[in-house]
Amino acid sequence: MIVHRWPRIKTLVISLKHSLLCGSFAILLGGPSQLSQAFQIPSETAPHRDPWGVLPLTQASHRWLGASSCSASACHGGPGAGVSSLQAPRGSEYPLWIESDPHARSWRTLNSDRSVEILQRLHILVDGKIANTAAYQNCLACHNTSTELTSDGISPAIPEGVGCEACHGPSEAWSYSHYQGPRSVQVAIERLGMVNTGSEIVRAKACSLCHIGGPDRDMNHDIIAAGHPALYFDYATYLKAYPKHWREEPQNQPIQALERWLIGQVTKADSELELIESRIASALPHSIWPEFSNYQCTSCHQPLTNFTEDRNLKATGNLPETPSNLGNASVRMWNLEGLESVDRILGSDSQGTKELLDSLQRAGSGRGATESELEGLFDKIEAKREELQSFFSSPNAGRTRSAAPAWTAQQHRTWTREKWESAAASGNWEQAALAYLSTLASSPHQDAKVPMDRLRNRFVFPETTQSPVFPTPQSSLGDSSELQSDSWLADLDLILQFLSP
Ligand code: HEC
Ligand code: HEC
Ligand code: HEC
Ligand code: HEC
Repeated sequence: MIVHRWPRIKTLVISLKHSLLCGSFAILLGGPSQLSQAFQIPSETAPHRDPWGVLPLTQASHRWLGASSCSASACHGGPGAGVSSLQAPRGSEYPLWIESDPHARSWRTLNSDRSVEILQRLHILVDGKIANTAAYQNCLACHNTSTELTSDGISPAIPEGVGCEACHGPSEAWSYSHYQGPRSVQVAIERLGMVNTGSEIVRAKACSLCHIGGPDRDMNHDIIAAGHPALYFDYATYLKAYPKHWREEPQNQPIQALERWLIGQVTKADSELELIESRIASALPHSIWPEFSNYQCTSCHQPLTNFTEDRNLKATGNLPETPSNLGNASVRMWNLEGLESVDRILGSDSQGTKELLDSLQRAGSGRGATESELEGLFDKIEAKREELQSFFSSPNAGRTRSAAPAWTAQQHRTWTREKWESAAASGNWEQAALAYLSTLASSPHQDAKVPMDRLRNRFVFPETTQSPVFPTPQSSLGDSSELQSDSWLADLDLILQFLSP
């Protein structure tokens, strides 16, 4: 229950209509956007248990030491950089991270010209100085190991990018003990704030913290509108693309693509719901609701295909045609698709999911949401999150995996076919890209490779953009002529054949 926090919602509801109006005025008058004023960070997080085992990452009860503390040559700084094969000796994680882990470059990214532009537009950086510490820490939470600042209050205490502890947990309490004896890692995980990255579920949730967001790290529409790429996380794809500094132990049964997909679906949905909860319950005055990034970009935006040089994301013709478009935004399903698959697996009727999505949709409509509607939405989300969390028997139990109710290959194929069919009918980029990803998870026949590759090429973002080419509202994937063309549908036919029972 959230009763004790509820009075704060009042301000939130009042600002609801206001924010929508401001949005449309900004458009109609062509005036400056509302970015700086609107920027919010939810400060209070829901008092959740830690069913996913990632609490050490978000509410550090121990100190962070930084990646260099792991880098002694006898520890993780050994020779052998660039190796992540089965034969590779252990102990070279640090050089491997420095050399090829995308996370090691995230400190540079946060200091890049593009970041500076984003920070300036958000008025986080003014005259070369950090002017909004909390908002800067929101960036640090995803782009750096810790958000702790030095005594000047503006520079990060450990400027290193996303280091070891950003995934493995703050190491103060276990740094000197986790290699002492066979049970030391287990003890570190159970009591000392080490994260059980060996569990697929814990790991997927840890990635989601930054690749989707969380109460202490919000990727909201203001940041996106200031030039940040919208996040389109897919656990299996990102894990595959990640240059690994570990080896999958041969004695561990390799996890199947389907199981990994499912884990990704469920943890993604949980993270998105958690984010929405924190947005609803945000304690700050003038909170913005609805948060635009919870709704489909294309509900409000026309294709963002023409980009000016000075601002990658600057769009021409992206303005909502009429303010009423703002009132009909449909829910962005990229991270919430898992709700449907879980309903199917559990055989539960999908009424709960439907009601949740309906409330979320209504809460985003131009008419605004009443206090009790928002409260109802919050409660529905709570209930749904509990259902998702009980779905996996015990995230911390297994070293590598945890039992989830079975999702059979047959169920998956049927589901994927339906996804393709509705994507083809609606021509919606997100739906099609999701259908593509779940096709991959079904390990399609190798003859499907060529049409799959062709499809993928249609779904990747154009070089100049960091976001999908937005479909036009009436029609289809990217450019309608492109994506409802015969060649696309022919590829789809082929793939559906491979997906046939
Ligand atoms: C503390 C936040 C954080 C966590 C936790 C995290 N990431 Fe990242 N990840 C980032 C950031 C920030 C970037 C962008 C780095 C850059 O380009 O500067 C990134 C980039 C990546 C990339 C490269 C993407 C690209 O476009 O090239 C992959 C792959 C990736 N992460 C996978 C993972 C996986 C898998 C996990 C979980 C095991 C994970 N990440 C956990 C923050 C995080
Ligand atoms: C919820 C986590 C999160 C927050 C908050 C966040 N970022 Fe990011 N950022 C990411 C991830 C993840 C990527 C990599 C995207 C990918 O490849 O999927 C990224 C990418 C970037 C990029 C690289 C874009 C490119 O060139 O590819 C820049 C610049 C950036 N972020 C700056 C910022 C700034 C500035 C802030 C604060 C205003 C911020 N980020 C807040 C997670 C976050
Ligand atoms: C983006 C998240 C991420 C970052 C950053 C990261 N790790 Fe890992 N690490 C993982 C995951 C996931 C695994 C594989 C699962 C496991 O075995 O725990 C892993 C595995 C390991 C293992 C092998 C554990 C085993 O039992 O086989 C070591 C050692 C390790 N990491 C050390 C480091 C060090 C040192 C750094 C920094 C230089 C680092 N990691 C940075 C996510 C990360
Ligand atoms: C409910 C309507 C709505 C939704 C949904 C929405 N936006 Fe916006 N967007 C706006 C409005 C209004 C503006 C102009 C005001 C501002 O900059 O905040 C805007 C501005 C932007 C801008 C800046 C464009 C420019 O030229 O200044 C970008 C980029 C953007 N949105 C991307 C996205 C992405 C990506 C999504 C989906 C994750 C999304 N938007 C969802 C209404 C919406």
